[in-house]
Amino acid sequence: MIEIKNVSKSFGDKQILKGVSAVMETGKTNLIIGTSGSGKTVLQKCMVGLFEVDKGEILYDGKSFTAMHEEERKELRQQIGMLFQGSALFDSMTVERNVKFPLDMFTTWDHKKKIDRVNEVLERVNLKDTNKKFPAEVSGGMKKRVGIARAIVLNPKYLFCDEPNSGLDPQTSMVIDLLIKEITQEYNMTTVINTHDMNSVMEIGENILYMYQGEKEWVGNNKEIIFSKNQKLNEFIFASEFLRDAKDMRMLEEKGIIDNDRNMDEVMKDPEAHLLMGDNDKRESHPGPADDK
Ligand SMILES: Nc1ncnc2c1ncn2[C@@H]1O[C@H](COP(=O)(O)OP(=O)(O)O)[C@@H](O)[C@H]1O
Ligand SMILES: [Mg+2]
Repeated sequence: MIEIKNVSKSFGDKQILKGVSAVMETGKTNLIIGTSGSGKTVLQKCMVGLFEVDKGEILYDGKSFTAMHEEERKELRQQIGMLFQGSALFDSMTVERNVKFPLDMFTTWDHKKKIDRVNEVLERVNLKDTNKKFPAEVSGGMKKRVGIARAIVLNPKYLFCDEPNSGLDPQTSMVIDLLIKEITQEYNMTTVINTHDMNSVMEIGENILYMYQGEKEWVGNNKEIIFSKNQKLNEFIFASEFLRDAKDMRMLEEKGIIDNDRNMDEVMKDPEAHLLMGDNDKRESHPGPADDK
């Protein structure tokens, strides 16, 4: 668990984070969402110590990161995996060497043990037999998976991902999202993901922090977001009319009023019969056009 307590951060006279408090839960995909410029990356960088906070505190499983000496921070950093925006692989190194890099940096393991571990994580992200390929030779989705493999190779307790879906098509994005969620649960990691991808929010939003202009605007999960009346959140997540309709439909489904798995061919044959789900009594008492006068 990572706790963020009343964190503020300014650059010059521009205040970017304005007293943000939140909890990132263990074994869950914790999402930080918000429009571009709302402070997601700055918050993540504060959490890993790439930026110092001006005010407030960050705690890792109860221990104050803010108060730690550099030596203690170094130790903690070894338990942190990071998936950088755009994967940030070393282009001149093979997939294998990219993934092995943190092992070379932080372990004294022999070559065989390192390669075994590299193969283990490559297999976990479904990239068996790509060891000798170079980043330029694999697809965007595969690059992300190499990035994930590298981020988890030291078996971290905490995983940070900044916009893991940037540049990917929706279907590949979903595969990456679900992979990150599976790994999070399997290894019981505290995973923090910055995103502005509405699909990610709905698929893996187990704990969502919505940032608006440097402030915490809303917190909840992907079920609660459907029922949220927060106007800023709704305008951000359900930006198009199509998505607003989808939200309404999901709300009706959650309330048991419609069945979203219904056979649409059947519904279209006799739409009126399906106005209210399988409940003829209700339909008869429903005021028809004749009652409108
Ligand atoms: N190193 C920096 N120096 C000055 N301003 C910065 C720096 N990093 C980010 N900012 C500013 O902080 C604001 C929030 O940025 P960022 O956290 O990157 O937004 P997001 O990730 O939500 O798109 C932006 O206005 C950005 O210009
Ligand atoms: Mg960002």
